[in-house]
Amino acid sequence: MLPRVFFITSEMYPFSKTGGLGDVMGALPLTISRLGVPTAVITPFYGRLSTADFPVRLLLPNCPVGYPWPPVTADIYSSDYHGVSIYFIHRGEFFDRRYYYGERSSDYFDNAERFIFFCKAAVSLMEELQEPPAVVHAHEWQSALVPAYLHFRRRTSLFWEKTASVFTLHNLAFQGRFSSRLFDETGLPDEAWDAAGVEFYGDLNMLKGGIAYADAVTTVSPSYSREILTEKFGCGLDGVLRSREFNLRGILNGADYSVWDPATDPLLPAMYSKDDVRGKDLCKRDLLRELDMDPDLAKRPVLGFIGRLRGQKGIDLIFRILPELMALDVGLIILGEGKPAYERAAVEFMKAYPGRVAAAVSYTEDLAHRIQAGSDIFLMPSRYEPCGLTQMYALRYGTPPVATAVGGLRDTIIPWPAENATGFIFLNSTPADFLEAVRRAVRLWEKDKAAWNGIMGRAMGQAFTWERSGRRYIDLYRGLYQGLQTYAG
Ligand code: ADP
Ligand code: GLC
Repeated sequence: MLPRVFFITSEMYPFSKTGGLGDVMGALPLTISRLGVPTAVITPFYGRLSTADFPVRLLLPNCPVGYPWPPVTADIYSSDYHGVSIYFIHRGEFFDRRYYYGERSSDYFDNAERFIFFCKAAVSLMEELQEPPAVVHAHEWQSALVPAYLHFRRRTSLFWEKTASVFTLHNLAFQGRFSSRLFDETGLPDEAWDAAGVEFYGDLNMLKGGIAYADAVTTVSPSYSREILTEKFGCGLDGVLRSREFNLRGILNGADYSVWDPATDPLLPAMYSKDDVRGKDLCKRDLLRELDMDPDLAKRPVLGFIGRLRGQKGIDLIFRILPELMALDVGLIILGEGKPAYERAAVEFMKAYPGRVAAAVSYTEDLAHRIQAGSDIFLMPSRYEPCGLTQMYALRYGTPPVATAVGGLRDTIIPWPAENATGFIFLNSTPADFLEAVRRAVRLWEKDKAAWNGIMGRAMGQAFTWERSGRRYIDLYRGLYQGLQTYAG
């Protein structure tokens, strides 16, 4: 039996979420715990934390936080969430804000200080709990200094000697890159200021801390783990990643079907499953009404998009082909927020095509579920996609995706015209290729209902379970942990 595994994360659904990281952290720790490994999560106590259903209690007031010395304190709150202990790091000046990382499109000016503090606090808290973890599993740049701290602490502290660290990259584009003067704030030893450490072209790069010092690095799909070794997808870090290739692997995310399954989804006006899809039609009509769309679209394909309005998601490709899409006599629904210019464009298109295009520029969890259910075709023209969860949800909701052949999209969608197809894939992130793929999907929807129903049925039958991914992580934890016990004697 392994000692506890600690997850360090800046988001965890249902307490906090801005995207897929929140979803993953809402499911993976619970799965690991269900599979028999004791699990805990450390995450910030944000001002907008939703803890209504899970009361928190003050566990450690004024916990000293510091590396290498303790100049400040944090209040530690805890909660039990389905058998997993959640530790919330509270320090008002850093986390008591309206948003998680910034307002609208600009980051908070002190994000470096906020998350350096978070990483230090996580390490201090684990020491305070006086129970050496088996594995500390950190995620994204906000938690990436934790493996770096453990690496250096292990040299002098018996407490950390037998604890392994894992670092998971969910999106290489977000690196936590800051001015070099913030290096002092980290408290890391001088030797970490190196091209093989956290230094990156004269700046502090927090993500590099995780890549350089973790015992193992993972990404969220096998394809992305290969793509990031190339210049095209490496975001400047492909060289560093290649040097750690022997320690890098891709473990595909799962989908949390306890939250995302039309057969049990309480947010839908009608539930349905692959054995009885009648409810989907009702969801569609209801959605058209909710969004003030043309009711005649009930007889035409409705295309849905849910995601951050950013270049990554290829939202601009949708805008580029929008007139051609409209010429296909389809409906289009966009839910997202992000770059102000894209938000404005979405609203402008809604005005230009009243009743045919609906744009909700907001972050609305409930509506995301209803769009998954009420659309016929899901658009996901991402330029890169480390894993992508929305396409997995779309498959389960019987809304075949049209997606780019990248990362997790290529690992989860079987492209038409394969016999066992579950969706549509196009190769190049160009408007022409994307349009061609949407046309293929729409044509099939119109002309060959039997083939379409086949795709839908197979899509709904896909199961990207967290159990499968969880077992892979546990194998990794065990290997690393056992290796350290032998090594440390
Ligand atoms: P990423 O993490 O890159 O944003 P994923 O596909 O992994 O992409 O996960 C996105 C998650 O965020 C999904 O749960 C999706 O439903 C949700 N989401 C994204 N944008 C919105 C929005 N505007 N409103 C509600 N949910 C959203
Ligand atoms: C990131 C990626 C997304 C992935 C998610 C969860 O936000 O952009 O592809 O699904 O993390 O791992």
